[in-house]
Amino acid sequence: MSIVYLNGEYLPLEEARISVLDRGFLFADGVYEVFPSYNSKPFRLNEHLSRLDNSLAGIYMSNPLSKQEWAAIFAEVIARNAGRHQSLYLQLTRGISPRDHLFSDDIKPTVFVMSKPLEAKTSNAGIAAITREDPRWKHCDLKTIALLPGVMLRHEARTQGATEAILYREGRLTEGAASNVFVISDGVVRTPPRSRAILPGVTRDLVVELLRGDKVECREEEIDIRALDSADEIWITSSTWEIVPVISLNDRVVGSGEPGPLYRQANALYQDIKENY
Ligand code: PDD
Repeated sequence: MSIVYLNGEYLPLEEARISVLDRGFLFADGVYEVFPSYNSKPFRLNEHLSRLDNSLAGIYMSNPLSKQEWAAIFAEVIARNAGRHQSLYLQLTRGISPRDHLFSDDIKPTVFVMSKPLEAKTSNAGIAAITREDPRWKHCDLKTIALLPGVMLRHEARTQGATEAILYREGRLTEGAASNVFVISDGVVRTPPRSRAILPGVTRDLVVELLRGDKVECREEEIDIRALDSADEIWITSSTWEIVPVISLNDRVVGSGEPGPLYRQANALYQDIKENY
């Protein structure tokens, strides 16, 4: 049985309860993080906690816990759950109060952490994706729990026989419904730059760092959506999916129709870090 952390207590998932007046439930008034723990150690924890601070500041909340307190909670949740590699989820909402758009400053945030075993990666063979105009708001750099656009986009992808929706705004690539995107042409790897239009993905940053360390040209720059049509490879990245090759886009084959050589290089670098972590 899965053990979760809720507001200071460790308890079975089935026993974790929150009020219907929680602002997360009523307004999606909260933020979250997802990160893997490899060999029972949270991966890139500082990066995830820095992004959490940025998301909290962006919605006018402060972090109720120190880095040490967060680390202690994660260590306990990891120890109490099964799996050498786990996927950790943390959510912070503004807390419980009578329903009113305007929040008062003295409410206590709701703090929740859960974990599930990280499944072995099955996507090395590649996935199909679709493209869609990005329907989201102008603060996509904040990891908020308001995920309805992502939910709808993933559903649309599935109805087209695909796994992910790759998004664009004013003709330029932004990111996936729940991933960052990379476009590879002529041996050069490109990904859209950090901005409010995308979530600064921790996996994205690591992939850029690993490739540059391996002497691959890797650019963070605006990418015209038309670049997808002539790409040799397309990848998406996220903490739980790692690096995934997109081998079909809008029912058209990408590159050779198979995971490409730069994907294999990037994935090998990533797997090496993971296994030795
Ligand atoms: N989502 N962009 C969006 C919109 C995301 O939701 C995610 C991850 C990413 C990738 O970020 P990272 O590499 O830090 O995981 C990019 C998580 C996995 C989720 O919502 O479950």
